[in-house]
Amino acid sequence: MRQRPFLTPIIGALPTTVPFVGPEAQERERGRPFRARIGANESSFGPSPRVIARMESVARDQWMYCDPDNYELKVAAAAHHGVAVENVVVGEGIDGLLGLVARMYVAPGEAVVTSLGAYPTFNFHIAGVGGRLVTVSYANDKEDLDGLLAKVASEKAPLVYLSNPDNPMGSWWEAPDVVRFIEALPETTMLVLDEAYGELGPASALPAIDVARPNVIRMRTFSKAYGLAGIRCGYAVAEAEVIRDFEKIRNHYGVSRMAQIAGLEALADQDYLHSVVARVAAGRERISA
Ligand SMILES: Cc1ncc(COP(=O)(O)O)c(C=O)c1O
Repeated sequence: MRQRPFLTPIIGALPTTVPFVGPEAQERERGRPFRARIGANESSFGPSPRVIARMESVARDQWMYCDPDNYELKVAAAAHHGVAVENVVVGEGIDGLLGLVARMYVAPGEAVVTSLGAYPTFNFHIAGVGGRLVTVSYANDKEDLDGLLAKVASEKAPLVYLSNPDNPMGSWWEAPDVVRFIEALPETTMLVLDEAYGELGPASALPAIDVARPNVIRMRTFSKAYGLAGIRCGYAVAEAEVIRDFEKIRNHYGVSRMAQIAGLEALADQDYLHSVVARVAAGRERISA
């Protein structure tokens, strides 16, 4: 029999899975398009007209590589959150950043705590580094903060995941509860606080950003409220040394020139963002009624 190159033991032991089966694959499988594309939590309101105009105006510049430092976008994101540019790293959406976090904090066999049924792409990345997922059931349709803390302690987990507001539950914890959770974590456990839907939930669910704390990484994306899922751009806010650690392994040319420009323009058009958030809230009221 023919030999073949060996995979690493971790990859060799993995099943072939997809973290999230995309709508396109589902449409191919069923042989017809969806009538409404709602399963991936994209914003069909799309990006701001300003973003579209800006992207059109730079279409011809795409022969150039991106700025590998993502500098202007980082400066804008830092100003947006009132932190320093040293506290921001840009990546290929939150998904891309989650993959880096898995590599940064999880050695093979180590426990990683998340909620049972929480965002699957995080789990996929943990499996890819040989981490051992430990899950905690939702309680009262929410992530069980005390349950997560107990598992972190009993498993000595280096990493825990919390999405706030949460997908899939659509529920959230208020900022004081999140802060209590953060303060109860061991200093040696890193929290990924996934705020993909941060702009769409109540502002009261978002704790003040504290970049002095080395064990919290806040993640934001242009995919949801900003209506730019297709460009693959997001960022993380964290303590400066944590950000320097991302620099060691991130894909420096991974966020395209177009994505950086779109993200920059999207951040600049907060009026549009607020109009989308209001329309989403109105739709939510109507549908729930
Ligand atoms: C909780 C959560 N985190 C992250 C993502 C992905 O974000 P991005 O498009 O920035 O990779 C999603 C997308 O559905 C999500 O629901």
